[in-house]
Amino acid sequence: MDRVAASTPGRAAAGAIGVLGATGFTGRRVVEALERLAQPYVVIGRRPDALARVAGEHCVDQRIADVGDPSRLVAAFAGLGALVNTVGPFALHGEAVVRAAVEAGVHMTDVSAELAWLAEVGALGKAAELAGVCVLPGNGCDFGFAHLAASLADDAVQGAEAIHVHQWMVDFVPTGGTLDSILRQGRHRPLHLADGQVRRRRGLGIHRKLMQDLDGYGVPWTGAEPVTLSWDLPHVREVTCDLVLSLPEALGFAVGTRLLARAPQRVLDLAGRLASRAPEPAEDVRRRSRFIAVVEAVNGEQIARVRVEAPDIYGITGDLAAVTAVLLSRGEARVAGVHTVGAALDPLAVLRPLASRGVELQLPPEPLRRSA
Ligand SMILES: NC(=O)c1ccc[n+]([C@@H]2O[C@H](COP(=O)([O-])OP(=O)(O)OC[C@H]3O[C@@H](n4cnc5c(N)ncnc54)[C@H](OP(=O)(O)O)[C@@H]3O)[C@@H](O)[C@H]2O)c1
Repeated sequence: MDRVAASTPGRAAAGAIGVLGATGFTGRRVVEALERLAQPYVVIGRRPDALARVAGEHCVDQRIADVGDPSRLVAAFAGLGALVNTVGPFALHGEAVVRAAVEAGVHMTDVSAELAWLAEVGALGKAAELAGVCVLPGNGCDFGFAHLAASLADDAVQGAEAIHVHQWMVDFVPTGGTLDSILRQGRHRPLHLADGQVRRRRGLGIHRKLMQDLDGYGVPWTGAEPVTLSWDLPHVREVTCDLVLSLPEALGFAVGTRLLARAPQRVLDLAGRLASRAPEPAEDVRRRSRFIAVVEAVNGEQIARVRVEAPDIYGITGDLAAVTAVLLSRGEARVAGVHTVGAALDPLAVLRPLASRGVELQLPPEPLRRSA
């Protein structure tokens, strides 16, 4: 694949990383990560005073834009090396930002964890491809690490026929922004890829999961991988995504999400708006959280497992988005269009710099026989 040319820089802040939603909980984590990387960045948002408060030493510009104003967005993205979008819910706001980035000719990533958004964004792939812009949605802790691990596991078995994603979230306390995004897409049911077709998963689907040192109960999760992995790994015919919990949690989750799916959309929107006012998790609470993704790729009798474990779910999301944007700004994208991070960039080039932030990667020494 040819490398995509980096976007043409403008005069001010040429080549810097834009952080849209820099004043938010996750946006501030992206800013902290860019400060640690000593990377020039531009804070973008709708409140000048709040932007000034989050701008640190390496901030080279502040730009005002509301996601409801497309022409201001395009102007705010002019000349950036790459963009990180942290403004959710992405099913509401994501499309305007992708369209503006494509118009401005700026590569971008976002931290979305919404199946509702990721099921739609692929339709913008052609426009991004024609503009030579690389768009990497779903690149937070949730989905981003699975996309990277899936790419590595697929390579290990030289082309998987099935990929199974398992996620553990330990001591996770969501922010108001996350609760808003989750609740508003509450009517979406978990999907799977079966015989190359995206289908709804049926039944409670709770099953015991024993994997290395990990023990729990898998429950179907609204992971986006059944949709997103098809963008880049068309040979994969089967994809599942499970959250792994204790048995009472798994039962509560399965029943709770089914009740949510029956609620009218206006009730979910209202619940989301109210939940968005939840207090931010305290720093020590946030830092205790942990995320684990184990991705299995299967090809015939061969099976390869790749595990990524990360501390501080929100902090590491900021690091992952920042490192991805830096690689995009350096012209490292292998493809234009809408893709997963694992396919558009070298997965190890993304994961290696995150080791110093506590991310542990376990690669299979070689694929196992399926019965092992
Ligand atoms: N994938 C993952 O693992 C992961 C991890 C972390 C977060 N997330 C997702 O990231 C999203 C943000 O979460 P959060 O906790 O950071 O939320 P947050 O603290 O509420 O921040 C939201 C940001 O969006 C900005 N914003 C809202 N409406 C806007 C508009 N119309 N125009 C411009 N900016 C606007 C806000 O600006 P103001 O300050 O002006 O209000 C704020 O900067 C959620 O969807 C969450 O689920 C995903």
